[in-house]
Amino acid sequence: MKLKDKVALITGGSLGLGKAAAFLFAKEGAKVIITGRTESSLQKTVDEATQQGLELDYMVGDVSDEQRTIETVQHIIDKYGKIDILFNNAGVLFLGTTHETETEIWDKTFAINVKGTYLMSKHVIPHMLEKGYGCIVNNSSILGLKAVPGVAAYNATKGAVTQLTRSMALEYAQQGIRVNAICPGTIETPMVDNMLDAMPDRDAAEDFFKSFHPMGRFGTPEEIAHAVLFLCDDNVGFMTGTMLSVDGGWVAK
Ligand SMILES: NC(=O)c1ccc[n+]([C@@H]2O[C@H](COP(=O)([O-])OP(=O)(O)OC[C@H]3O[C@@H](n4cnc5c(N)ncnc54)[C@H](OP(=O)(O)O)[C@@H]3O)[C@@H](O)[C@H]2O)c1
Repeated sequence: MKLKDKVALITGGSLGLGKAAAFLFAKEGAKVIITGRTESSLQKTVDEATQQGLELDYMVGDVSDEQRTIETVQHIIDKYGKIDILFNNAGVLFLGTTHETETEIWDKTFAINVKGTYLMSKHVIPHMLEKGYGCIVNNSSILGLKAVPGVAAYNATKGAVTQLTRSMALEYAQQGIRVNAICPGTIETPMVDNMLDAMPDRDAAEDFFKSFHPMGRFGTPEEIAHAVLFLCDDNVGFMTGTMLSVDGGWVAK
C-alpha cells in the first residue's frame, strides 16, 4: 500500500478525476476526504465506495468560499490530526471565445479554478509546514500548457494554475512540501460529456477533440488517478515543480 496511514484531501471528489483518485487512494491505504458543492453527489460516491469495501469521508463546500475552506481544513485536522496530501482538483469549464465569454463566467472560472486552488493551499500548507511534510498536486490541464480556441477563460485559469504550481514548489522546496501539477488531455468525465453535449454535433466534436491526441482516443479517469498517485509516492521525493502531462501524446506535438 503506497499511501498507508496518509490523510488525503481531494477537492471535487464526487465525480470524474477526483472520484477516481479518491477510490485509488483509499485502495492504497489513505484516509480520504472528498469535497464538492452537492451533498447528494458526495453521498452517492461515498456509498459506491462503501459497496466496494472502501472508506471515504466527505465535506460539502465550494472551494471559492474561504470561510468554508477554513472550516473544512479545521474539521479534518480535528478529526485526523494532519493533512499529508492535497489534490486541488475541483474545476469548471465553460465554452467561449474571449469576446463571447460573459464577465460573470470569466470571474466564476477564475474563482473556482485559480482562487479555489490558492485558498485550499493557503489553509492546508500551515499544517503541512508544522509536520515538515506535504504533497500537493494541482489539477492543471494540457490547456495549462497549450492553447485551443473557444475556451478562453478555462485556458487562462489553467495557465495560472501551472504557474502557481511552480511558485509553490519553489516556496516550500526546503520545507518538506512537494508541489506538482497533473496536466491531463481530454478524459472521459461528466465535464467532458457535458461539453460535448453542448456542441451542435456531438459526434463531430468528439472526433475533433480526439484528433488532438496522437493516440486517437480520450483518456480514462483511472489513468489520471494512477499518475496522481505516482506524484504522491514518497519514492519520487525528488519531484517538485513538475507539470506531468498525461495526454495521449498531445504535448509532444
Ligand atoms: N476531464 C478532462 O478532460 C480534464 C482535462 C484536464 C483537466 N481537467 C481538470 O480536472 C479537474 C476535474 O475535472 P473533471 O473532468 O473530473 O470534472 P467533473 O466531472 O465536472 O467533476 C468536477 C468535480 O468538481 C466538483 N466541483 C466543481 N466546482 C466546485 C467547487 N466550486 N467547489 C468544490 N467542488 C467543485 C464537482 O462537484 P460539484 O459540482 O457538486 O461541486 C465534481 O465533484 C478540473 O480541474 C478540470 O479542469 C479535466
